Amino acid sequence: MKKIQLQPNTFLYPMPLVIVGTMADDRPNFITIAYCGIVQHTPPMISIASSKVHFSNKWIKRNRSFSVNIPSSDMIELTDYIGMYSGRETDKSEICELFCGDIPSAPMIKQSPLSLQCKLMESIEVGGVNEIFIGEILKVYANEDCITNGLPDITKLQPILFSMHDNNYWGVGKHLGKAWNIGKNFNPNTKKDGQ
Ligand SMILES: Cc1cc2nc3c(=O)[nH]c(=O)nc-3n(C[C@H](O)[C@H](O)[C@H](O)COP(=O)(O)O)c2cc1C
Repeated sequence: MKKIQLQPNTFLYPMPLVIVGTMADDRPNFITIAYCGIVQHTPPMISIASSKVHFSNKWIKRNRSFSVNIPSSDMIELTDYIGMYSGRETDKSEICELFCGDIPSAPMIKQSPLSLQCKLMESIEVGGVNEIFIGEILKVYANEDCITNGLPDITKLQPILFSMHDNNYWGVGKHLGKAWNIGKNFNPNTKKDGQ
């Protein structure tokens, strides 16, 4: 297959989509975030990158905590709405049912099948535009019916995947194989040219 070069851009496929919650004084506020990643396994830490212009940033830093809610595909309109309107002008505290768990400054969304409460460990400014917040996951709340063998089950969570450069939301596709396992079938002596 012929390769063509594209301009450097953040072409990362797919991206998860999360809704980050924090308290703005005494009002819960939420922001949709696609720039979310795992930092390390033990102790469990994740990162989010949020533009400095966003209302949420100041409160995440002030509270030193935030929640990360994994929306399921039936929350797509809510997720998009939260990503379109800033808490600076729009009160997003009444648009869904909330619960507060053990860390009241990190409000969570009841409809979300999986929610994490994080303690802010570090804020890093990169490139002048975004702030990266690294949070240690202290609490995890999951819907009972989304658990298989004690763990969150992707087929039950039905998370939303995001394709950023064409602004599209996608669902989870078909199962391809078991990790740390299917590679045992690979024959290193056969090379494919991508045809
Ligand atoms: C699908 C989607 C993904 C988004 N991902 C990010 C992101 O990763 N980082 C970011 O800074 N803003 C992101 N945004 C924009 C914010 O969610 C949006 O500006 C929001 O209104 C900010 O809320 P706040 O001002 O109440 O904090 C995203 C928006 C959408 C719709």
